[in-house]
Amino acid sequence: VSVVERLRWWDLEEVAAIEPQAFGPGQAWSREQLWAELAGVPQRRCYLVLRDEEEEQVLGYGGLSVGGEVAEVLTLAVRPQARGRGRGTVLLQALLDAAEQHDASEVVLEVRVDNQPARALYARSGFERLGLRRGYYPDGADGLVLRRRVRRG
Ligand SMILES: CC(C)(COP(=O)(O)OP(=O)(O)OC[C@H]1O[C@@H](n2cnc3c(N)ncnc32)[C@H](O)[C@@H]1OP(=O)(O)O)[C@@H](O)C(=O)NCCC(=O)NCCS
Repeated sequence: VSVVERLRWWDLEEVAAIEPQAFGPGQAWSREQLWAELAGVPQRRCYLVLRDEEEEQVLGYGGLSVGGEVAEVLTLAVRPQARGRGRGTVLLQALLDAAEQHDASEVVLEVRVDNQPARALYARSGFERLGLRRGYYPDGADGLVLRRRVRRG
């Protein structure tokens, strides 16, 4: 049984361990960066975890920048061993719900062009291409900016 909950400070050790597995050592957020992100909750940030209640383990997490018309998905990751079973989709949907609760009218995000699993997930969840940021990533990879409108009213 897994549940989506607010990310709490005591989840940060587990999240910090998943970060380099999800984004590579060069791109992983440090504990300090993760703490700084949590400091923005609830006005500017919304962070969620998907927790396996039996194993008492964080399966994945996602973060959203909120506070204006445009919310932004800042991060989304699922533990490598837990992928391919719809968990990323569940977390993304929870972030979209949070964006709606924070009165955002649209959600944007950035994804590497070569990140096929993530692109498939975003396309399936209704995200559309807004534009390309050439050479956006440190290794020169392009970044795709995607957008999805949020249901209102
Ligand atoms: C992106 C990520 C969060 C998806 O998590 P997940 O729990 O596997 O997501 P889901 O199971 O909901 O969906 C995965 C989809 O990716 C696709 N997919 C999985 N592996 C793939 C591969 N090797 N190549 C292409 N597509 C792939 C499948 O289409 C799958 O959809 P399906 O359910 O129709 O089969 C996860 O892969 C991850 O943590 N990646 C590293 C971090 C990252 O890149 N985050 C996104 C940053 S923008």
